[in-house]
Amino acid sequence: MRLSRALVIAVVMPYLNANQARDYALDISRPTTRDGIRIHSQADFAGMHAAGRLAAEILDEVAEHVFVGQATGVIDDYIRNRVEAAGATSATIGYKGYQHASCISVNHVVCHGIPGDKKLKDGDILNIDVTVIVDGWFGDTSRMYVAGKMNRRAERLVQVTHDALFRGIEAVKPGNTFGDIGHAIQTYAEAQRMSVVRDFCGHGLGRVFHAPPNVLHYGRAGTGPVLEEGMFFTIEPMVNLGRPETKVLADEWTAVTRDKSLSAQFEHSVGVTKDGVEIFTLSPAGTFHPTYS
Ligand code: MF3
Ligand code: CO
Ligand code: CO
Repeated sequence: MRLSRALVIAVVMPYLNANQARDYALDISRPTTRDGIRIHSQADFAGMHAAGRLAAEILDEVAEHVFVGQATGVIDDYIRNRVEAAGATSATIGYKGYQHASCISVNHVVCHGIPGDKKLKDGDILNIDVTVIVDGWFGDTSRMYVAGKMNRRAERLVQVTHDALFRGIEAVKPGNTFGDIGHAIQTYAEAQRMSVVRDFCGHGLGRVFHAPPNVLHYGRAGTGPVLEEGMFFTIEPMVNLGRPETKVLADEWTAVTRDKSLSAQFEHSVGVTKDGVEIFTLSPAGTFHPTYS
């Protein structure tokens, strides 16, 4: 059965507040591909750019709050206040019951680490992941930080994960496929004798947090949906020094490597342009990589 657009709005509206209903109506007013991937307009790029920039600025500022002895919960407090001060909204607070403005994933935590009282130790590496909503648009980005001094294995992992993300981004242009992105990331990481996590993926986003497609960080070249101008999505590879398998802890969020090996992740929100890609979450300070100095 094919539902009319008016009917879909009528059916979904009662569960949304006024702002959500407006954003939802705006979102579905855009066309999608037959894979359900939304195609955004030229003007929509400006909305994503503003949201992406705020998320990236916050990650720039957070660097000075990362040090040995710091509690991850204090870093999250800074992020929550900063989002609020910008007049923006945290996308993660209240998302499926999650209560924090960031995910902070330390060492063998793969993703969705919950900020708390635990203090950072010398040599800890951590991913901080922030998603903000600005004028209804979602900006989602994460990067790696270090408390104190990284050891050589950790440094290699962080470098390879960073470079794997950019291999993926380089594959983004109209006519390529989502499989090309995954293939670029996987072949690069595995050539460095590291593994790519399969249990979590990137995602479409825009006026919603998570939308089609699932952006896999592994795969075969030429497979999957074809990239088209106006698609917005994240690429957020998680790379492990050991095996790729993960498990989720009893808190129902924290994902860790099963073999306790070190894990790293970087994430950008991107849009497909006429002849390539726009990265919405570039670091204004140029400090996306932790060893930028
Ligand atoms: N920002 C994460 C992502 O990259 C999602 C976090 S959802 C949360 O998709 F609830 F765990 F915060
Ligand atoms: Co994401
Ligand atoms: Co994220």
